[in-house]
Amino acid sequence: MAKGLKRQLDARFAQTLVDIVAAELNKNVNITDEHGVIIASFSTERITQVHEIAANMLQTGVIRECAVSEEDERQWKGVRKGWNVPILFENHCVGVIGVSGEPDTSAPYARLAARFVEAALQANARQEELVQALNEKKELQSSLMNRIIQAQEEERRRISRELHDETSQALTSIIVGLRVLAAGAKGQEEESSLLQMRDLAVQTLEAVHHLAVELRPILLDDLGLLAAVQKYIEGYMKQYGIQVQLHVSNMHRERFPSELETTIYRILQEALTNAARHAQAEQIDITLAKQRGKIILVVADNGIGFADGRYTGHQGYTALGIYGMRERTALLDGTLEIKSSPGDGTTLIVEIPLRRRKKTEEI
Ligand SMILES: Nc1ncnc2c1ncn2[C@@H]1O[C@H](COP(=O)(O)OP(=O)(O)O)[C@@H](O)[C@H]1O
Ligand SMILES: [Mg+2]
Repeated sequence: MAKGLKRQLDARFAQTLVDIVAAELNKNVNITDEHGVIIASFSTERITQVHEIAANMLQTGVIRECAVSEEDERQWKGVRKGWNVPILFENHCVGVIGVSGEPDTSAPYARLAARFVEAALQANARQEELVQALNEKKELQSSLMNRIIQAQEEERRRISRELHDETSQALTSIIVGLRVLAAGAKGQEEESSLLQMRDLAVQTLEAVHHLAVELRPILLDDLGLLAAVQKYIEGYMKQYGIQVQLHVSNMHRERFPSELETTIYRILQEALTNAARHAQAEQIDITLAKQRGKIILVVADNGIGFADGRYTGHQGYTALGIYGMRERTALLDGTLEIKSSPGDGTTLIVEIPLRRRKKTEEI
């Protein structure tokens, strides 16, 4: 049995059964818990009272069916002649069901009711086990996802720093060196081929710089979300020729938890990339706001839109972009909504609370 499963009878379920059996048989029916306390009864005043015979049987630890005789009826207060059947679940007695009347005629009904309760308990337990297993899987999945995202960010940060600090420095030295060489060139031809090489090095430097920013903008770590977003939009407009308006509300250059800044930045990056790749948009409006203890990001494009729920990519593979945005948002207890219909543009709304319920490690 999975940990933490209840072995207790549900009183409401027990009472429903009692009502059905009692109505059918016109007999008194009681169900007790594992201590012999009545939890469901045809005589409602008996509920919470101890069923002396059942309690006695449970105390002895010898769990078996037993009759209540006329003599018992006289000896024990409140008990009625009839038949008692223990309810077993996973080798434990979880209660006793008693049906009043002639023991011979009551016994089969009491047995049937007991088996019925046992079957219901088993079905419930199985269901609980499945739910528990599913929840454990979900938790595992999101913790793995968290680790993947963290590792990816860490790696990107490392490569970006390396490109920025080492590769860019080396290229800059090459550019300067080529310029010096060109200045001292012996002939026109030599000078122009040195300058050509220098131009190539300049282009490479720009490409390396662009790559470093795409991987992980140093601005995001050094100056925070807003600065990094502004810089990204600037580059994006130049690259794609799409008009982007950024509306900032109640937010200045303050710093937020690193995982929150990274998440918003990555989602914006993916949303803008999608708009450029799929939307044929001319105009994009971005809102970045701090409101009611949340960071809100809205990205609205005026492009071709797409049918709701279509989250697979063009080649039929499962698209990771929207999935990734959802995962990142969920890890910070946020919500993500995409409103899109063909011809009507796409709007993405992300809300992430500034304070989180559970703490995940830093991204
Ligand atoms: N802004 C958008 N405008 C139009 N279609 C979009 C937009 N964003 C996403 N889509 C559609 O949703 C699909 C899934 O997007 P995504 O999960 O990012 O995967 P990918 O970009 O790799 O295709 C895209 O292939 C595209 O068809
Ligand atoms: Mg995408």
